[in-house]
Amino acid sequence: MKKEMVIVIDFGGQYNQLVARRVRECNVYCEIYSYKIELEKIKEMNPKGIILTGGPNSCYEEGAPSYSKELFELGIPVLGLCYGAQLMQFVLGGKVERAAVREYGKTLVSIDNSSELFHNVASETICWMSHFDYISQVAPGFKIVAKTADCPVATAENAEKSLYAIQFHPEVLHTQEGTKMLSNFVYNVCGCTGDWRMDSFVEESIKQIRERVGAGKVLCALSGGVDSSVAAVLLSKAIGNQLTCVFVDHGLLRKNEGDEVEAVFGPEGSYDLNFIRVNAQERFYSKLAAVTEPEKKRKIIGEEFIRVFEEEAKKIGAVDFLVQGTIYPDVVESGLGGESAVIKSHHNVGGLPDCVDFKEIIEPLRNLFKDEVRKVGLELGIPEKLVFRQPFPGPGLGIRIIGEVTEEKVKIVQEADAIYREEIANAGLDRSIGQYFAALTNMRSVGVMGDERTYDYAIALRAVNTIDFMTAEAAEIPWEVLQKVTSRIINEVGHVNRVMYDVTSKPPGTIEFE
Ligand code: XMP
Repeated sequence: MKKEMVIVIDFGGQYNQLVARRVRECNVYCEIYSYKIELEKIKEMNPKGIILTGGPNSCYEEGAPSYSKELFELGIPVLGLCYGAQLMQFVLGGKVERAAVREYGKTLVSIDNSSELFHNVASETICWMSHFDYISQVAPGFKIVAKTADCPVATAENAEKSLYAIQFHPEVLHTQEGTKMLSNFVYNVCGCTGDWRMDSFVEESIKQIRERVGAGKVLCALSGGVDSSVAAVLLSKAIGNQLTCVFVDHGLLRKNEGDEVEAVFGPEGSYDLNFIRVNAQERFYSKLAAVTEPEKKRKIIGEEFIRVFEEEAKKIGAVDFLVQGTIYPDVVESGLGGESAVIKSHHNVGGLPDCVDFKEIIEPLRNLFKDEVRKVGLELGIPEKLVFRQPFPGPGLGIRIIGEVTEEKVKIVQEADAIYREEIANAGLDRSIGQYFAALTNMRSVGVMGDERTYDYAIALRAVNTIDFMTAEAAEIPWEVLQKVTSRIINEVGHVNRVMYDVTSKPPGTIEFE
């Protein structure tokens, strides 16, 4: 699977994962490593090319992240981006200085098309710049192949040694021909053939899982989310009913969701695996009775989840492997100061491994980005509805109900949310909005229905657009859609007489409404 690989060396830039993604989009496998990775390890991996990312530091400052000169003498092509470009020049004898003004934003760059990097790129093209320091003098052996009005060295190359330094960010979509430049690097400079495909991933993974598991028993906690679903199907294709999936229905799922998961993975579904659905609604509702504080609710749900899972696991007995749906962004530690490839103990369901008797963990998706996981899901024939599911918090509707959680309130929010989702889909907006859902406020107010006075709940509708879920903007849903959702919710869902749309961004709000 990893015959042909490009590695990204991370200097703490905010776009580090994006670089790897773009390379993979060129069908070349790519992994990210910390700048602390040893040269020996790189030699061992023998990548086809190396890309150095941007970063927040100044390379000439003492203690700034760096790499030894030998990196550039391995005979492996190296592409430095932003900080990586400055570092390459600095280490090889060029000069980097602080500019009087920061160059930031979309910038017109003049390009020398004779460079391999710029093959088929327009001679004037828009690029994304974001830097204070600049390369004031290139290292010996380098020539300048791109510049802007403010930046004398937008790109420098030593074609003979296959070393390239780009001051801007080709990985960012604002750089109009950035993907072409990266593709030129991996194909024309590194000589990659581009054999990384999702179908080869599926095939290879199945082979590897079979070899590793042998006749062993495997346990998977299935949440119905994209990652655990794709992991489960991959495992089931590889080892069939040696796999047992435990799906805990805590009664806080969206409308029909439990049944949908069962329809896909259960006995009537298309996979040959042991599926155990635990209907634990009552247990959860009774534990949550009279609890109003959001953190406390989260804790109760998390703990109860483990308890239920533990009981089921005990019935199954010892297993050899536990499956986790860890994906690449969970693995890569962003920013500086740590090892880049530290495995975060990412427990979707909170500390499961401690309570189950197993020997090893299998994480079949740990090298994939979310969109790649989705591609694998489609490749495996998982229904689109599951593959394109929005993020849904582990504690579920328990944190979309303000105040005490009761069965009645769960029904209200389930119905309202189902109407909202249906209308968003009818309006063709379901793939374009980042995340959207209905929440039940704990507020009741006076209304009038027919001739009668009502005193009922208010539903809050939330919809956000976001890139990384760290920040988010409220989505501008067309007024007619909101009106339709509102009138349907009030007419069709009992005990609701008011619908509100939340226009708060994150920060100061959060995406969830808890
Ligand atoms: P907030 O509300 O913190 O949410 O802005 C950011 C993203 O994280 C999701 N989220 C969770 N996901 N378990 C999860 O698996 C949780 O406990 C949890 N809480 C929030 C949320 O849906 C949003 O996508």
